[in-house]
Amino acid sequence: MSRSLKNKKKNSVPLIAYNEPKGAISEQYRLVRTNIEFSSVDEEIKLIMVTSPEPSDGKSTTAANLAIVLAQQGKQVLLVDADLRKPSIHYTFNISNIVGLTSVLARKESLDKAISNSYIPNLDVLTSGAIPPNPSELLNSKAMDVLLHELRKKFDYVVFDTPPVLAVTDPQVLANKCDGVVFVIYSGKTTKDKAFKAKELLDKLKTQLLGVVVNGVELKKAEFYGQYG
Ligand SMILES: Nc1ncnc2c1ncn2[C@@H]1O[C@H](COP(=O)(O)OP(=O)(O)OP(=O)(O)O)[C@@H](O)[C@H]1O
Ligand SMILES: [Mg+2]
Repeated sequence: MSRSLKNKKKNSVPLIAYNEPKGAISEQYRLVRTNIEFSSVDEEIKLIMVTSPEPSDGKSTTAANLAIVLAQQGKQVLLVDADLRKPSIHYTFNISNIVGLTSVLARKESLDKAISNSYIPNLDVLTSGAIPPNPSELLNSKAMDVLLHELRKKFDYVVFDTPPVLAVTDPQVLANKCDGVVFVIYSGKTTKDKAFKAKELLDKLKTQLLGVVVNGVELKKAEFYGQYG
């Protein structure tokens, strides 16, 4: 691998599972992967959404790293930036965002052409594309259903990054179409009240909770800041 994915650009998130596969944080992502694998025994768990109560809880970090640990199992994985309000996956993977999810939904580009190689084996990426005026309507569209059907056929797992569940309805719209949700909270930041409120919203939907990632615990360690800060 010639290209470095230790990206420190603004808005990018650390690809810990790739750069530090033996670290304790990567183990947390592998635990979620194990949950997903066990949940798949009776029903297909293919479309996985990642969300959290509020901004900056670590949704994008979790989505990218979960996609990586799934790809590390030899599965064909697609990471989709469905945060159509504040997309970040193109920064993390140094990919152009001229075409992406919204271009496919608007039928401006074919799915195959909109998907990019992540340079991580078995992992492809679909960036957000241009930010649309109506994200939740777009996610609720017939075109989105058609796309999800196509993605189910093409990939073993599709991981969706989304906006915060307490801020906008997009994650609820998408959760109804996915097989399961990974819920991220940030230790010391997410209040109990916010966590319960967000969980309550998700519980009303026809999807299952695949795991909870508690972000920020390891971040408090000085050596961690030394490594990634
Ligand atoms: N586990 C982690 N280790 C190191 N840095 C992290 C971790 N989780 C999050 N961060 C950092 O915290 C910031 C916010 O994380 P991230 O972008 O994943 O959150 P988000 O919930 O997707 O935010 P937004 O709501 O803005 O989309 C990023 O700069 C990221 O680099
Ligand atoms: Mg994000």
